[in-house]
Amino acid sequence: MARARSVWRCQSCGATAPKWFGRCSDCGEFGTYVEEVVTQTATVGGRAVSSGAAATRVPLGEVGLTGERRVSTGIGEVDRVLGGGLVHGSLVLLGGEPGIGKSTLLLQVAAGLARSDQRVLYVCGEESPAQVGMRARRTDSSAEGIELVPETDISAVERAVRDEPPGLLVVDSVQTAYDPELAGAPGSVGQVRATTARLMRIAKDLGVTTVLVGHVTKEGAIAGPRVLEHMVDTVLYFEGDRDHAFRVVRAVKNRFGPISEIGIFEMGERGLSPVGDAAALLLGERERAVPGSVVMAAMEGSRPLLVEVQALVTPSYLQVPRRLATGLDTARLLQVIAVLERRAGLAFSAHDVYVSIAGGVRVAEPAVDLPLAVALASALADRAVPLEVAAFGEVALTGAIRPVSHGETRSKEAARQGLTTIVASLPLSVTLPPGARRSAVSTVADLAGLLG
Ligand code: TYD
Ligand code: MG
Repeated sequence: MARARSVWRCQSCGATAPKWFGRCSDCGEFGTYVEEVVTQTATVGGRAVSSGAAATRVPLGEVGLTGERRVSTGIGEVDRVLGGGLVHGSLVLLGGEPGIGKSTLLLQVAAGLARSDQRVLYVCGEESPAQVGMRARRTDSSAEGIELVPETDISAVERAVRDEPPGLLVVDSVQTAYDPELAGAPGSVGQVRATTARLMRIAKDLGVTTVLVGHVTKEGAIAGPRVLEHMVDTVLYFEGDRDHAFRVVRAVKNRFGPISEIGIFEMGERGLSPVGDAAALLLGERERAVPGSVVMAAMEGSRPLLVEVQALVTPSYLQVPRRLATGLDTARLLQVIAVLERRAGLAFSAHDVYVSIAGGVRVAEPAVDLPLAVALASALADRAVPLEVAAFGEVALTGAIRPVSHGETRSKEAARQGLTTIVASLPLSVTLPPGARRSAVSTVADLAGLLG
């Protein structure tokens, strides 16, 4: 027999305790414990004993090999991130900071699906139907086939879905949806977990494809701790700098596809538009050669992407000079500075160093080392790198430049954008496009030769 029992859960970190405590022993927050009712199954020796029938067994060899059914969202960049469209009956979580454009993207996705005759149920717990209506008009999204459900009670949402299962269910957002039978305010860890588990069940039971919006806190976690990521099939993050038009959708978990692909968008007056030629958008502002700036030929998934790496080196008035990296890992910056000091004889010890990737993009691959070294050397010497240079490569602790993957694709993209001097370690088998040439740089000690 199942019986009800209470546990106390910390609403900040998700830790549980058998009784109420004033302070969480895990995260140290005060007054965060809230009672939750759990239904417990009778146990014998710690193991659950069930009174029902035995679980069904399915021989693996007899499981259908039909593959998953996918529907296109009508937006190529979103389909690409998902691995070819939304998988039928899957649960997708779209995370991102407030105001980044999650609702806008999902409304456009909803309109795309509705165009291919899928009925869409859009639960707008955060906004009134009038607000969503205004956004639809602003983005020119056709309202045909989309129904709004201004509701925060998850039971009411479940009834609406079970009455007439839609092709796509959008819940905007998981922080506003709540279960009135559970303790805890909407948005608390317990509530967010319970609602997600419930939506997962609905998605799997009825085969309803579901997209969940989750706001991300400053620390980058969805609803406090990353309590939801393991519960859903796919986690997408919507990133970008709110001060820039550039937005990137990235998969960080995908049970049905790759996690290396990104979708690139531009936020404009009429919603989000896919960016086909991201390079042109990102490099648009470079008109003349300035010290401290160089283009990196980066890879995002299977796609090359040209980004501008910028460095600023100024005399420091601090005891410990400042090192600040935006859009890339600070540890990489520290290591590259160390290599330049030791292997190229450059001295940064009396300087503050700021580096950033222009356009609000993030670069995580080791290939950023070399462009970083070029930008730093250029900034320190106050001599510009010629505009036609593109760099990529890992820098070893010895100062040598190491080859990275996709050298040919990177070089081609650079040359296509008029960057014809390739600073990299390229295998001899790589043929460069006509007009492009390899630079003679092979260690960081050669970088001075590159500067104008
Ligand atoms: P929104 O989708 O509401 O963000 P989220 O759901 O992630 O909180 O979009 C927020 C921002 O986007 C808002 O500041 C206004 C801007 N925006 C545009 O610039 N153009 C548009 O066409 C739309 C709909 C929004
Ligand atoms: Mg929103």
